[in-house]
Amino acid sequence: MPDELSRRLAEVIDALPLRPGIRVLEIGCGPGAAARAVPFDIAFAIRVGALDGRHPELERQAHERIASALVPGGKLFIDAGYPLREVSLQAGGTPTRSNL
Ligand SMILES: C[S@@+](CC[C@H](N)C(=O)[O-])C[C@H]1O[C@@H](n2cnc3c(N)ncnc32)[C@H](O)[C@@H]1O
Repeated sequence: MPDELSRRLAEVIDALPLRPGIRVLEIGCGPGAAARAVPFDIAFAIRVGALDGRHPELERQAHERIASALVPGGKLFIDAGYPLREVSLQAGGTPTRSNL
C-alpha cells in the first residue's frame, strides 16, 4: 500500500475547512471505534454509497447516526465524484446542502 496520499484524496482534504485543534471523523474508512468515543466537529465521506443520494432512506439513517457523533452544529462533507458538498445536519439528521 502506498504511503503517499493520492491526488484525488489530497484534493478532498485540501477542500475541507480544517484548522488546528478540530476533531475530524472520516466516514467509510474503518470500524468507527474512535467515533464512538469522541464528539467530532466535522465529518467527511469520500465515495460512500450510503451518502451519494441513490438510497434516500439509508442516507437519512446515516445522517441521523452521523449527527449523533458530531457536536451540535457539526458539519458533514461528502465527495461522491463531484465537487465536495457540505451537509449541515439538523436535529434528527435532516440535511441542508451546499456545494463547495
Ligand atoms: C468506494 S470505498 C471508498 C473508500 C475511501 N473513502 C476512498 O475514497 O478511497 C467505499 C467505502 O465506504 C464504506 N461504506 C459503505 N457503506 C457504508 C456505510 N453505510 N457506513 C460506513 N461506511 C460505509 C465501505 O466499507 C468502503 O470502505
